[in-house]
Amino acid sequence: MTSQSASNSPTSPAVAEDVLQVRQCVAKARGKGQSIGFVPTMGALHAGHVSLIERARAECGYVVVSIFVNPTQFGPHEDFQKYPRPRSLDLQICGDAGADLVFYPTVDVMYPAGYQTFVEVGGLSDILEGAIRPGHFRGVATVVTKLFMIAGADKAYFGQKDYQQQLMIRIMSRELNLPIEIVTCDTRRDPDGLAMSSRNAYLTPTEREAGLCLSRALFRTRQRFADGERNPENLSRVLRQEIAATPSAVVDYAVIVDPDTLSEPTKSASKMVALVAARFGTTRLIDNLLLESVD
Ligand code: PAJ
Repeated sequence: MTSQSASNSPTSPAVAEDVLQVRQCVAKARGKGQSIGFVPTMGALHAGHVSLIERARAECGYVVVSIFVNPTQFGPHEDFQKYPRPRSLDLQICGDAGADLVFYPTVDVMYPAGYQTFVEVGGLSDILEGAIRPGHFRGVATVVTKLFMIAGADKAYFGQKDYQQQLMIRIMSRELNLPIEIVTCDTRRDPDGLAMSSRNAYLTPTEREAGLCLSRALFRTRQRFADGERNPENLSRVLRQEIAATPSAVVDYAVIVDPDTLSEPTKSASKMVALVAARFGTTRLIDNLLLESVD
């Protein structure tokens, strides 16, 4: 373990780079009767990640965060190489948010030479994000399963920001009988509405301004739903029109779907989800909002 492991001050969590170290730390915590909370991340941490760590801190005795930019979930022309990796800042953020242990593996630890075992969740992995990013969810499902097996946690925390991801992980955990509870946490936004994302750092000021059309469109659609509109076609028209008012947004999808299956919702459904993905320059943003009746 690195020198950080020696200190228990709030800004210095222990850092483990291999699997055995994590297992030993977790076993020690279990020996003290502590429950284990786990927050998987790819680093470049922001307030959205912090909200997950703080929730785990509030609900569990011992909190493990993983920071691993997972190569298997990036397509060949995506941003794996340029994905930000601010190691010391990330470790400080983890400590300040209350993490006890940060698992910071190398690619070789997670995928030794000759690695050949993958996890695939059928159906959901091939639509929407999965259709646009082939292989992405296979990489996510694989790394999350491995991380779950390493951390051995009672609860794992995911953001609603990546709606399809948290849904796929819920389905995967249920179908594989993984002994872990999945907790989904609200999306954190900047004051102007932009959903926080590590990739927002790529945006120029003009692109960032344009990117606001996504949250604007989602909130307008939710307002229409609250006003009584239940026809998914009308709701998706509202969603698309609002985004189309920003011509620099190149839309991958903007849909109203069933929150449990991501298929077409029934006309009078009391719960739907609006999912959007669009490119601004070379940066791709995703966002979503649940549409729910309060009655
Ligand atoms: P990453 O993008 O780093 O996100 C880690 C977790 O933080 C995810 O559960 C994500 O949904 C959540 N998150 C991101 N932005 C958020 C926001 N604005 N508000 C609330 N939560 C937010 O998602 C991944 O990493 C990876 O795919 C991973 C699950 C770690 C597997 O490699």
